[in-house]
Amino acid sequence: MEQLVYLNGEIVPYSEARIPVEDRGFLFGDGIYEVVRIYHGRPFAFDRHFERLRRSAAEIRLDLDIERLRADALDLIVRQGIEEATLYLQATRGVAIRNHAFPSEPVASVMMLVRSASAPSAAVLQNGVRCITLPDDRWARCSIKSINLLPNVLAKQQAVEAGCYEAIYLRDGYMTEGSSSNSWAVLDGELWTAPKSNYILGGITRDVLLELARQDGLPIREEPVPGWRLAAADEILISSTTSEVLPVVELDGRPVGAGRPGPVWERLYHLLQRAITVECRPELIEAR
Ligand code: PDD
Repeated sequence: MEQLVYLNGEIVPYSEARIPVEDRGFLFGDGIYEVVRIYHGRPFAFDRHFERLRRSAAEIRLDLDIERLRADALDLIVRQGIEEATLYLQATRGVAIRNHAFPSEPVASVMMLVRSASAPSAAVLQNGVRCITLPDDRWARCSIKSINLLPNVLAKQQAVEAGCYEAIYLRDGYMTEGSSSNSWAVLDGELWTAPKSNYILGGITRDVLLELARQDGLPIREEPVPGWRLAAADEILISSTTSEVLPVVELDGRPVGAGRPGPVWERLYHLLQRAITVECRPELIEAR
């Protein structure tokens, strides 16, 4: 199946998709994005992603027809026909001669791509991942899912060069989130994660995990996690649409807890897998 691209209302072959050089996303990073995971051909937590897109658009004062984009996204998912995939959607403030101020009548430019994706490997689930901590040097509006990701890119690269999977940010001594994930710590049997604020992205996976954990009776603390407590954490986890939920077994070169994936991670992982099955493969549940 050839790779397709959705561009401003049309679905075209990848080789024919063109974005003008004066697109404000290219010039200024003046745009927002979403990443949705598709399992067995069906998008997971689709409504939540489009609600977040609506909020991001409102924050940057970008006029988007969310209902139309939602329908167009479903159409692209079906047309592209990849069972295990991600949908990437990017919306910018369109094309205009370079000037920082908004164009007088901006027309948003929207691009979507469906690409194949795979779940975290068995090795990653079995062995966990290593992370480093870094000072959170991003701006103060991290709740906007902005395409301005230069600090995140630099942090992730630093992690990769240190042989790690992710960089976990600390701001004013508190854990905020990862460069492309939300972060969690298990402290004295309670599951902690930073509360929603302008300093973190309100992750969809984070929202889903919080709901599942609460229903399952796990004690939750949506409170700032002091960085110094991470050294004594029983477990540290990261979550995102593409990584689902992963156990962090080493932080800054020191083992986390017992140095292997812990029971809270395992419980959350299975709760999430079940929620994915219920939403994207309901026939498997009904057949039982
Ligand atoms: N990143 N925090 C940041 C800074 C992120 O970039 C992401 C996701 C998350 C997790 O959000 P969610 O659970 O909605 O994926 C938290 C995506 C996957 C990316 O940039 O590719």
